[in-house]
Amino acid sequence: MKSKILKTTAIAMALSVGVAQAAEYKASNAEGPIKIVNLKAMEAQVQANMEKGAFGYIRGGAEDENNLRSNTTAFDKKYIMPRSLQGIEFSDLDLKTEFLGIKLDTPIIQAPMAAQGLAHQQGEVATARGMAKAGSVFSLSTYGNKTIKEVADAQPGYPFFFQLYMSKNDAFNEYILSQAKQYGAKGIIMTIDSSVGGYREDDVKNNFQFPLGFANLEAFAKISDDKSKTGKGAGISEIYAQAKQAFTPADIQYVKKMSGLPVIVKGIESPEDADTAIKAGADAIWVSNHGGRQLDSAPATIDVLPAIAKVVNKRVPIVFDSGVRRGSHVFKALASGADVVAVGRPILYGLNLGGAEGVNSVIQHLNKELKINMMLGGAKTVKDIQATQLYTDASFNQ
Ligand code: LAC
Repeated sequence: MKSKILKTTAIAMALSVGVAQAAEYKASNAEGPIKIVNLKAMEAQVQANMEKGAFGYIRGGAEDENNLRSNTTAFDKKYIMPRSLQGIEFSDLDLKTEFLGIKLDTPIIQAPMAAQGLAHQQGEVATARGMAKAGSVFSLSTYGNKTIKEVADAQPGYPFFFQLYMSKNDAFNEYILSQAKQYGAKGIIMTIDSSVGGYREDDVKNNFQFPLGFANLEAFAKISDDKSKTGKGAGISEIYAQAKQAFTPADIQYVKKMSGLPVIVKGIESPEDADTAIKAGADAIWVSNHGGRQLDSAPATIDVLPAIAKVVNKRVPIVFDSGVRRGSHVFKALASGADVVAVGRPILYGLNLGGAEGVNSVIQHLNKELKINMMLGGAKTVKDIQATQLYTDASFNQ
């Protein structure tokens, strides 16, 4: 009897600790479309709405944040020539496209991002719903706060990708890739630019540690003897330190073979790496510098894209991200060799301010800006944008 009471008390205490801990981090539960003037302006709204450490983690970049800034400002060095005699009606503009056999209503997709529970109580489930509403594709991070099954169930039948941070433990890699396959992921985004965390000073200042667990790591910990940290109470550098560091082309072959799914190699900034990845079997290349969060001295992605596109030479499609905040940026990336363009932080800002509808609002806003650029730049379709020549200062000084 006594032991039963003790047991019940212990369970009650454990439960209340669980509840107390869950209540510690207060994420937004906002729901509904949001009014957007421009994506940059959303940042201040979110800052006022989010715990300091969480906001710093999401917004921040590496070191002096030169790359975070240059990713966006570098777009200003490229010009779109106004074209007006193409006989295009605004209502005829067509954003539809296709990527790895997936039909998309827009060339704008979502970059995988960790820990979306920081932005909203429904986390990745709401983002998946928002992206489905926008007729685009959702990507779940290995370090998401929801499992692969939870996001697959969020919008049955809608396409999603799984982003893989390979572990040093192959048992985890096998487990997670088989989950991705089982629950219907359309491809694996294999990130290779994060063998160590960039030096992010906001996280240092705020002593930022994740307040919520990473659902996929927690699920694996339950069924294995792996004692790795599972997110909650850890900083991003500790998490990265557990992940695979010494990447070689053989890892691409491993992920392809293990998952049986198309593999998109993410974090490419050099033509050499692009070529190596394709020769190793990559089904797509994702040009990215991780939104300026890793190597602060890296070039802006829009500056390296043309040389990568030249080397890729249409062997595989190219995804582009880092710094995209305007429809004109989407246009310029497509005109420089990208097939689809991904957006990161602004989608988390939309999630924070309006849940699934807020995510959709971000895509719709970018679509609106993109269409205005198409109309004024004389491009009716995504293919027309891709065939458009951009100009630089050098173009006018010959
Ligand atoms: C980051 C990782 C987890 O940039 O993508 O924090």
